[in-house]
Amino acid sequence: MNFKILTIFPEFFESVFSCGVIKKASEHSILNISIHNLRDYCEDKHRIVDDRPYGGGSGMLLKPEPLGKAVNELKAGSKKPLVLLTSPQGELLSNEVVKDISGYDDIIIICGRYEGVDERIKELYVDREISIGDYVLSGGEYAAAVIVDASSRFQCGVIGNTESVSGDSFENSMLKYPQYTRPENYMGHSVPEILLTGDHNRIDTWRKKEALKNTFVKRPDLLDRISLDADDFEYLRTVQSDIQPGYSAYIALVHYPVYNKDRKTISSAFLNLDIHDIARAAKTYGIRKYYLINPVKEQQELAKRVLDHWMKGPGTKFNPTRKSALENLVICSSLEETLEQIEQIEGKRPKITSTDAKFYKNMIGYKELRHRIFADNHPHLILFGTGWGLTDDIINNCDYILKPLKGYNYFNHLSVRSAASVILDRLFSCKI
Ligand code: ADE
Repeated sequence: MNFKILTIFPEFFESVFSCGVIKKASEHSILNISIHNLRDYCEDKHRIVDDRPYGGGSGMLLKPEPLGKAVNELKAGSKKPLVLLTSPQGELLSNEVVKDISGYDDIIIICGRYEGVDERIKELYVDREISIGDYVLSGGEYAAAVIVDASSRFQCGVIGNTESVSGDSFENSMLKYPQYTRPENYMGHSVPEILLTGDHNRIDTWRKKEALKNTFVKRPDLLDRISLDADDFEYLRTVQSDIQPGYSAYIALVHYPVYNKDRKTISSAFLNLDIHDIARAAKTYGIRKYYLINPVKEQQELAKRVLDHWMKGPGTKFNPTRKSALENLVICSSLEETLEQIEQIEGKRPKITSTDAKFYKNMIGYKELRHRIFADNHPHLILFGTGWGLTDDIINNCDYILKPLKGYNYFNHLSVRSAASVILDRLFSCKI
């Protein structure tokens, strides 16, 4: 595997590749890493590599001519070279990307610098723009070193025992199981007994479960990429019940005040389907109470009749799980009454998030709101509007306004129960 690194700081690489497996692999010619000074490809006497951006703005860009000349010269002689540019705008480096890179014999890495590189270099020469994370480094040299190290590990002979690569975290998209070495007891903490049994079948099973657990707890997003069997799934359900997150969330389906299609404030009528479907979604995602806000007496009575059927009447026998979902439903006359009830339960008023199909300024995203709800020691209430949506007055007095759900189409008319399900999944999914 040949890496050619193009940089304005060749000295950066003097030490990074001079130890460990990379050094050994280089000594055995399994890896061939060469460092090329971009300034050597300048044709002016001051060897200038950067220039100001057209259109103004701060910072300097790597100019195209020396870069283009360098890449052309470094490509010469290789049949199918891969040209990478390190940049915070690139695709995120992952195990899959690293593996792809390791499939090439000749890899040229352009270390981005300053504010970036002239866009035409990307268009003309770069195959993949790579970022090593959502933060800005002082230069792409750090990223280049990471790319060389990570992709070399997949090259035969770089790591002595190839099994240790296939057992690495991220292979099979899972994190690694916990590992221990001597002593058996360290500061009162013992090695798990199973590891001392010498029973390799049981140890393998234990390790697989621990890897699953580790992944589920620390990086549940990775589980999406692996196919779980029924046993794994069952096991994760037990792990999940041991690590219930401590969020305290409530939802309300608001029938007043909402807009009608002429933007007049009205009280809308409830829909039987909304009562059932949102109650089931709320129970699924661990919502403490589902408030149905409707000030109209006849509406409240009708909703109570529906509830009674499932809570006390023939519905209890017909479908007990429906009863368990509807148990969390509370009929209220106003948002204020809902807030007071939550305050009674929690000892403090909840933070309020409104949802809407329209865009507003300063909306909050799903990951961010999830993070706040999970990290907060505070109850949260999420409002879903009926009719043509919650009134401006309600929306403007909320702590957060959640970004609207959007597909690639312009059609934007989800039913409130569909929207509630999608939103609850984005905010409260356990991500198995
Ligand atoms: N250059 C500056 N920041 C970077 C990052 N996060 N990844 C790759 N190259 C970079």
